[in-house]
Amino acid sequence: MSSQELINAHDLHKAFGQNHAVNGVSFSVRAGEMYGLVGPDGAGKTTTMRLLCGALTLGGGQATIGGVDVKRQPERARAEIGYLPQRFSLYEDLTVMENIRFFAETRGLSNKDWRPRSQEILDFVGLGTFTERRAGQLSGGMKQKLGLAVALVHRPRVLLLDEPTTGVDPVTRQDFWQLIIRLSGEEGIGVLVSTPYMDEAARCHRLGFMRGGKLLLEGTPSEVRARLNGRIVEVVGGPLPVLRKICQVDPDVENAQMFGDRLHLRVKADRAGQVMARLASSIPAGGGELLAARPIASQLEDVFIALLESGNE
Ligand SMILES: Nc1ncnc2c1ncn2[C@@H]1O[C@H](COP(=O)(O)OP(=O)(O)O)[C@@H](O)[C@H]1O
Ligand SMILES: [Mg+2]
Repeated sequence: MSSQELINAHDLHKAFGQNHAVNGVSFSVRAGEMYGLVGPDGAGKTTTMRLLCGALTLGGGQATIGGVDVKRQPERARAEIGYLPQRFSLYEDLTVMENIRFFAETRGLSNKDWRPRSQEILDFVGLGTFTERRAGQLSGGMKQKLGLAVALVHRPRVLLLDEPTTGVDPVTRQDFWQLIIRLSGEEGIGVLVSTPYMDEAARCHRLGFMRGGKLLLEGTPSEVRARLNGRIVEVVGGPLPVLRKICQVDPDVENAQMFGDRLHLRVKADRAGQVMARLASSIPAGGGELLAARPIASQLEDVFIALLESGNE
């Protein structure tokens, strides 16, 4: 069961006029797997999801959901998918339960099917006691949970969640992720989720990094981080803007970012030792104070910044 492939995307293409929004994207998501799509605005994440759920027609390539071809059997494929769009709109003047009912009926569920299911699913997302509240009176986080409930009402095996927690407070983000983890872990649902948050990306079993319509890099979070093993140097001292200027002119420093009260340098391969030795003299000479410089484990953020920059050269 756990090795079953629920999403298979092969060489997906979609252009809007001259704009190749999705340009040869291939990946797969297994049952019980959480696959994270990350990348800057305009990378093609939303378009990829819309191709998978049939909201857009494929310009090229092939996609199957639970083995069902999205192009040849769109209705059957769609029945396997729960989709929470990036800009999900509820009916604000309808209650929580009426919203569920509306979406269940558009999915073709009968009264007998959706009633017990809707209570179960509202309890699951923590809205079981809010069934009579108007959707317009829910907080942002509760609206997203209702969106998730709506996406789950027909018991899909695949969930497509497009930035489900963007703009949601940290506590609700945490709650929301506990739900996703349960859906994948306990129910074996295959989850494709896009997120701008690196802490969320780190929770996924596998990640795909998209830019310019292409999947540039794929792997587990630790595989992705390993791309920059030995190449991140943390610098502690002050004043930070002065340190940053000095570090940026070092010939082996590719990038210097502030991370809280310190700097993260990305250095050329095998140059960490030389960079640290030079900074020990260049920082005091430039009017800064160096308290510590040491190699540290790279974070997902470091890798993503490096990937973003690699396209701007
Ligand atoms: N319906 C559309 N019509 C025209 N262009 C679109 C449409 N949807 C997306 N695009 C363009 O396709 C590219 C990818 O967009 P999108 O998939 O929304 O990226 P992301 O979700 O990663 O921010 C962008 O350049 C965007 O402007
Ligand atoms: Mg998007």
